[in-house]
Amino acid sequence: MAAGKIEKKKGHFYFGGWDTAVLAEKFGTPLYVLSEDILRARCRAIREDFLDRFENTEAVYAGKASLPLALVRLIHSEGLGLDLVSGGELHAALAAGFPLSRTILHGNSKTRTELEAALDGGVGRIVVDSLSELETLEKIAEEKDKQAAILLRVSPGVDAHTHKYILTGHTGSKFGFPLLGHSLRDAVLRAMKSERIVLKGFHFHIGSQIFENTSHVRAVEIILSAMAEFRRDLGLITEELNMGGGFGVDFDPEGITPSIRSFTDPMMDALEEGCRKEGLPRPRVIIEPGRWIVSEAGITLYRVQAMKTIEGIVTYASVDGGMTDNPRPALYGAKYWAVAAEKMDEEATETVTLAGKCCESGDILIEDLKAPPLSRGDLVAVLNTGAYTYSMASNYNRTPRPAMVLVSPGRADVIVERQTNEDLLRGEKIPDHMKLD
Ligand SMILES: Cc1ncc(COP(=O)(O)O)c(C=O)c1O
Repeated sequence: MAAGKIEKKKGHFYFGGWDTAVLAEKFGTPLYVLSEDILRARCRAIREDFLDRFENTEAVYAGKASLPLALVRLIHSEGLGLDLVSGGELHAALAAGFPLSRTILHGNSKTRTELEAALDGGVGRIVVDSLSELETLEKIAEEKDKQAAILLRVSPGVDAHTHKYILTGHTGSKFGFPLLGHSLRDAVLRAMKSERIVLKGFHFHIGSQIFENTSHVRAVEIILSAMAEFRRDLGLITEELNMGGGFGVDFDPEGITPSIRSFTDPMMDALEEGCRKEGLPRPRVIIEPGRWIVSEAGITLYRVQAMKTIEGIVTYASVDGGMTDNPRPALYGAKYWAVAAEKMDEEATETVTLAGKCCESGDILIEDLKAPPLSRGDLVAVLNTGAYTYSMASNYNRTPRPAMVLVSPGRADVIVERQTNEDLLRGEKIPDHMKLD
């Protein structure tokens, strides 16, 4: 979220057309807030800067970033497809009435049940990740007398500049077929021979939160040379190339999130030029952004519960949420920014560490945050939390998950209810011999 976009009125932080203090009062904290306007603006940018400028292209939203049913609906209304990665996400797409023909199923470890659900439901493309998956899928398609339209996921062997936990396209990645060795060629040959498998093309996704475009462009060049080789050696011409997502967003309010064009234009140039050189038809191109669509559309509101200063070392402001609603800082050191939402006119004279409430020293949301003097009860808004927070949330320490509200000027709808302590006991049983008399 760029600094200019932080809106304040009368000392309060406004987001999505709402005074965040009013939202906190009305819905409680911790609270995920999603701005409908920002979400739609992001979808519109993808349409105008990519889909409308290049023929034969498609954009699918990577649901792993966040998948409440209302968001699935919004994505559909904006004309994007949906990238799914589990039976649970597929179920959510169905529950929201999303046409499965416009979905893509990913995953390096799909179960038989998930593959069956994909074939039964008519998922548009299954992205096959290994030879053993291809064999299983072929068997299932045979049993069901169906055909499976697939892409083969290739790990192009490029090291994108991002954290190793969100790096996916390097040699040695658990995802996709490496270009080293012959497993990709074996899969291509098997797919070509099969009456049940329709090989539509290839897929790559090199990682997440990537800022510069050189790794994406390099991946396009690498895939192209594999495509040219398959055409030369096997006579294979594929119709589709899925270039994944991974387009980064700036978490610093002073920073600027790169435009979608800064990634897709150079990739399209490289693809068109490479296809011309190799005499290949330019395939249909699909992109799969997740974070770029939803991250800046979300904030999380917390109330400070305790202040603690360890003289000369650190001042903690501990809030009523933390790694359970946003595990990314603890998981891979993700950096966030926050504002004191009711003290926007006060000078940031203090340096505080925003700590989560979990019984875990690593539950720190933000280190060294510049803030005005804080005290118990103050409202803090962590910015840029739309992606990989709710979808990665846990119930550690039996912490109920926050509610989520979708806001636009004049409207605020709860789209995910706050969990209750009772919700957390659902499904638990005490064996008869342990029951109290
Ligand atoms: C296959 C695939 N596509 C797309 C994405 C979306 O990535 P991002 O949210 O960084 O755009 C991911 C995320 O890991 C992914 O694994």
